[in-house]
Amino acid sequence: MKTLALPLAALAVLSAAACKPSETTQDGDTLAATSDPLILAARDNFKPIPEGPAQIAGVTATPELVALGEALYFDPRLSQSHALSCASCHNMGLGGADARPTSIGHHWQLGGRNAPTVLNAGYNFVQFWDGRAEDLVAQAAGPIANPVEMAMLTGQLVPTLKSIPGYAPMFAKAFPAEADPISEKTVPIAIAAYEATLVTPNAPFDRFLRGDAAALTDQQKRGLKSFMDSGCTACHSGTNVGGAMYAKFGLVADPSEDVRPAADTGRFAITGDEADRYAFKVPTLRNIALSAPYFHTGSVWSLDDAVQIMAKTQVGKTLSAGETADIVAFLGALTGDQPKVAMPVLPPVTGKSVKPVN
Ligand code: HEC
Ligand code: HEC
Repeated sequence: MKTLALPLAALAVLSAAACKPSETTQDGDTLAATSDPLILAARDNFKPIPEGPAQIAGVTATPELVALGEALYFDPRLSQSHALSCASCHNMGLGGADARPTSIGHHWQLGGRNAPTVLNAGYNFVQFWDGRAEDLVAQAAGPIANPVEMAMLTGQLVPTLKSIPGYAPMFAKAFPAEADPISEKTVPIAIAAYEATLVTPNAPFDRFLRGDAAALTDQQKRGLKSFMDSGCTACHSGTNVGGAMYAKFGLVADPSEDVRPAADTGRFAITGDEADRYAFKVPTLRNIALSAPYFHTGSVWSLDDAVQIMAKTQVGKTLSAGETADIVAFLGALTGDQPKVAMPVLPPVTGKSVKPVN
């Protein structure tokens, strides 16, 4: 191997002139020293997904709590029919979503909106397309009771879980301080603690942000540049390349009625504030290549089309086919290591357990 002929002192001078020194982010992430202008520009807009689970305020994730949450996440007996679990609509083999425009819930009913991915949801500032749940704990109770989703009958969740004997020791270990550990309060906490582990670090883009200029292809680099130059980063930035603010869908031009139907007013339905009409949570673009179809309507099946619609409606720009392909290639670099999920063996029912209702 050749050794560099420059003396160390000269190297230090060079790096001081051209290079941003390595830094440690708030999450403890190390961003290597670099002078690559595209990496430096990207660091102004984005942060890598940290290794390890996301943190949920007020929840201390013990291994027992996460194991319980994992069982509950995959357990269809949290639904009235015992046919639907969280994983039915947030499938880890499908990028944490369900590959449908809108989901099929209880009695084959169609929901009103596309199921967003659960992957990295812990890094979203609020949950749901309209932000009506403040965090993963507040979110998790919703689908269990929602009549078009899991449709668990009021008051039936706790008796059902208590009638499956294997759950008692799992809840006791997960909630050692609770006198009555199986409750409407503890179930969402356990599920949320598990969901916080569903993160996808180490995407090519994360390696690029950390300083590996070779982690993106030339086309992905052009796409990243177009993404930033087009102003996509005004909304899609930070750790989740989104998930940090609300924005009107149709800021510059109205999307077509099938993509943004008049009836779903988004955030306006929550706040009643006219400024919020058609505002939605800016979704994460992490793993976006895995979770077609797109938008809250799930009405757009190709990522190329979704990108062109965004350019027109949000930044007032018509992208060429080449620019579109570049941006889509960049979005492909946001696919990280998918969670390694082993289907948990769920505690069995007995003859006395609560039966499914059809
Ligand atoms: C029948 C399909 C279905 C089932 C079952 C289901 N979900 Fe969802 N989930 C959805 C849909 C649809 C949305 C979006 C609804 C909205 O925003 O109005 C959603 C939203 C979410 C979100 C918000 C993500 C984000 O970025 O805003 C999380 C987290 C989530 N679900 C977790 C769960 C958990 C945990 C369970 C089980 C307790 C569950 N879901 C069961 C369909 C489902
Ligand atoms: C003004 C804010 C804003 C800007 C700028 C913006 N977006 Fe979006 N983006 C959103 C919102 C809000 C949604 C969700 C729309 C909906 O479904 O209601 C979204 C959705 C998307 C989706 C679909 C995500 C999913 O999960 O279905 C993609 C892909 C996307 N944006 C890419 C882009 C690209 C590429 C650009 C730049 C050309 C861009 N966005 C610019 C706010 C923005």
